[in-house]
Amino acid sequence: MDALVMTEPSHGTDRTEVREIRTPRPGPGEVTIDVGYAGINFLDVMARRGDAGYAAAWPYTPGLEVSGTVREIGPGVSSLTAGQRVAAFTGAGGLAEVVLVDAAYVVPVPDEVPARLAAAAPLMLTAALILLEDAAGLRPDRTVLVHSASGGMGNAFAQLVPVLGGGRLIGTVGRPEKAASALKSGYDVVIARDGDLVRAIREATDGAGVDIVLDPLGTAMLETDLAVTAPGGRVVLFGNAEGGQPGPLPPVGRLIGGNLSIGGFSIRGLWASAPGRASAGLLRALTLLADGRLNLAINEVESLADVPAVHQSLAEGRGEGKYVVRLRGERAGG
Ligand SMILES: NC(=O)c1ccc[n+]([C@@H]2O[C@H](COP(=O)([O-])OP(=O)(O)OC[C@H]3O[C@@H](n4cnc5c(N)ncnc54)[C@H](OP(=O)(O)O)[C@@H]3O)[C@@H](O)[C@H]2O)c1
Repeated sequence: MDALVMTEPSHGTDRTEVREIRTPRPGPGEVTIDVGYAGINFLDVMARRGDAGYAAAWPYTPGLEVSGTVREIGPGVSSLTAGQRVAAFTGAGGLAEVVLVDAAYVVPVPDEVPARLAAAAPLMLTAALILLEDAAGLRPDRTVLVHSASGGMGNAFAQLVPVLGGGRLIGTVGRPEKAASALKSGYDVVIARDGDLVRAIREATDGAGVDIVLDPLGTAMLETDLAVTAPGGRVVLFGNAEGGQPGPLPPVGRLIGGNLSIGGFSIRGLWASAPGRASAGLLRALTLLADGRLNLAINEVESLADVPAVHQSLAEGRGEGKYVVRLRGERAGG
């Protein structure tokens, strides 16, 4: 079968290739999936550039989320049947024609959900949903600030916050030309991070500040986050887009005195440590898609050979919305 393989760490496309490799077979507790669509993620790029904790070994087969049909079932798996439409968090290896997964990471896909949308759910949409509801504790009418608002996660937050009852939605982007796509996905205000951000956010909230900050930028923006968070508010750190060593957290006294909380979130960590919670989130994400309540911005590419260029675009911060690749089956709109 064909799979995308990263042979060594690289900041470019030169060490990523489509290779024919052995088709996996499931062991106890596992299934294989004929991949219909695979999600393409910034986390693949972090693995590609060699960030610690992303590629377990080299060569590395990237790909963290798929939709497709169950191909083969390993011993001890009774919850799934061959041919069933499913979505799965894959851990690695999802950018391939067939992927091997732990059965606990697989959930059925409702008939109403097209495969191309389902492929964006196990990592991206589930992360955005659980992050908002659990890690950020979103409640009605809360003001939410999202950094990197024009990307895949940024788009998912913009779609989810109104559905979950949230209020004003403020996004930041690294370059002014990215503001239009974030505004289109539903942000009330989008601010480029090239000026006095604290002042701009305060103005956008009539001085009140925000209740929740969703920050994938390591600790680079943490001072700003704390400066614009209202008392009782919460900052959730969920990425380290620049790579490198994050800086220290602020002194406890500042958090206590300011009535501020800082939390962390990792969907990969949740799938590994609490798969039941992650799969419940995925089921809920798929239900929201089935209800037609989310209008995710999905960009589809046609083959594995197109994926290195998408990774490069994400690596250069040029991505807008979410990217998926079609391996087989239903075409766009299907
Ligand atoms: N914790 C979790 O469970 C989880 C799950 C999924 C994704 N994430 C994280 O969430 C973030 C967004 O993911 P995504 O899949 O939505 O990615 P994406 O669409 O590619 O967006 C990534 C954005 O990061 C920003 N960025 C900042 N520094 C960058 C750099 N050095 N290189 C490239 N981009 C940089 C860019 O936006 P601006 O220039 O506008 O800031 C870029 O558009 C990533 O940091 C990812 O690691 C975390």
